[in-house]
Amino acid sequence: MIRRVALIFGTRPEAIKMAPLCLELARRQGRFEPLVWVTAQHRQMLDQVLEAFSLIVNRDFNIMQPGQSLTDVTVHALRALEVAFKEDRPDLVIVQGDTTTAMCGALAAFYQRIPVGHVEAGLRTYNKLAPYPEESNRRMVTPLADFHWAPTERARQNLLAERIPDEQIMVTGNTVIDALAIMVEKVRREPPPRPAGFPEGTFDEGRPLVLITGHRRENFGGGFEEICRAIGTLADRYPQGEFVYPVHLNPNVQEPVRRLLGGRTNVHLIEPLEYRPFVWAMDQAHFLLSDSGGVQEEAPFLGKPVLVMRETTERPEAIDAGTARLVGTDAELIIAEATRLLDDRAAYEAMSRAHNPFGDGQACRRIADALAQA
Ligand code: UD1
Ligand code: UDP
Repeated sequence: MIRRVALIFGTRPEAIKMAPLCLELARRQGRFEPLVWVTAQHRQMLDQVLEAFSLIVNRDFNIMQPGQSLTDVTVHALRALEVAFKEDRPDLVIVQGDTTTAMCGALAAFYQRIPVGHVEAGLRTYNKLAPYPEESNRRMVTPLADFHWAPTERARQNLLAERIPDEQIMVTGNTVIDALAIMVEKVRREPPPRPAGFPEGTFDEGRPLVLITGHRRENFGGGFEEICRAIGTLADRYPQGEFVYPVHLNPNVQEPVRRLLGGRTNVHLIEPLEYRPFVWAMDQAHFLLSDSGGVQEEAPFLGKPVLVMRETTERPEAIDAGTARLVGTDAELIIAEATRLLDDRAAYEAMSRAHNPFGDGQACRRIADALAQA
């Protein structure tokens, strides 16, 4: 019987997507003994989420170093996890997604012959360089996992094509929708205080809020220069618009963004937002410009158009739903598609219908029910 379950995560998006599962297992304390272990691959951005969901951490490996390499993260996470596994011997380890923490959590568990559950299994681009290194991280978790919780039917089909046994796969929906549903309800009932650096007043078509996030490794360098050039041009052309960019703490992001976009009155470069104010900001936004995985999943639920600044995506469901469009990092294309959303009402409305391709907010209940019977 599976009782003692270690939930391992380290970055902001994993924390958001694991928080509702930690809470669900904690609600079933009589049946499960959940252990929340964080590598802290991210420090400040992880702590923001732990606080937002009032999560109590059982072990914190505190591995983040400024400007860390992928090897640094891997080595420190693997070493810390080996010690913890030997001491606490969980019956099951749960990891989420495609980060280096997720890959190390699964590998370290496998080395100790502890079964692994994979939340958000089966997403694929089949291009190992995009997203980099996440596509390969996610694929490396698959052969190490015993439970594959696929968010969508398409993800399940990918796993079946890789000869993962059908009985090990369950389509659950994405746990990010569980987290978002909880948070949207909160912010609509009680809006959070306006975050520092956020423009005052209300936003509407006459004063559109464009919310931006961007941090992908494959966009470092030239890609970021193009993205910033596009945002700068749009901000100059639409002085009535407010362009808000909570800038990721990675120095490879901070440097070009602040150098290329600083100094404009309608471009607001602010600190990464806590999850609650970020959900509020998404809800206020006219549309989103993002290379984030999580934001691509959240935008359809909120009915917010999102222009995805990537060449390819492992989340084609958002594109099929009509809410997301791939624009890559070509400045001219970003400008053209953003201009369409700003100027063409029909085009905007076609992209702003709410859809739920990524789940119904019940993913964690399904996972916990399945584990209770395993
Ligand atoms: C990581 C994940 C990526 C995920 C992203 C979410 C990997 C390989 N990458 O990328 O999949 O999309 O997180 O945001 O696992 N930093 C801080 N404080 C923080 C967070 C980051 O200062 O709270 C800075 C540090 O200098 C750190 C650097 O950002 O060394 C990079 O962090 P890291 O987790 O290695 O990479 P991300 O680009 O954040
Ligand atoms: N997010 C947040 N504050 C921000 C930007 C994003 O809370 O300032 C949330 C967002 O709602 C989503 C998640 O962080 O749930 C996405 O994380 P990120 O973009 O860092 O990683 P990715 O999803 O690309 O792996």
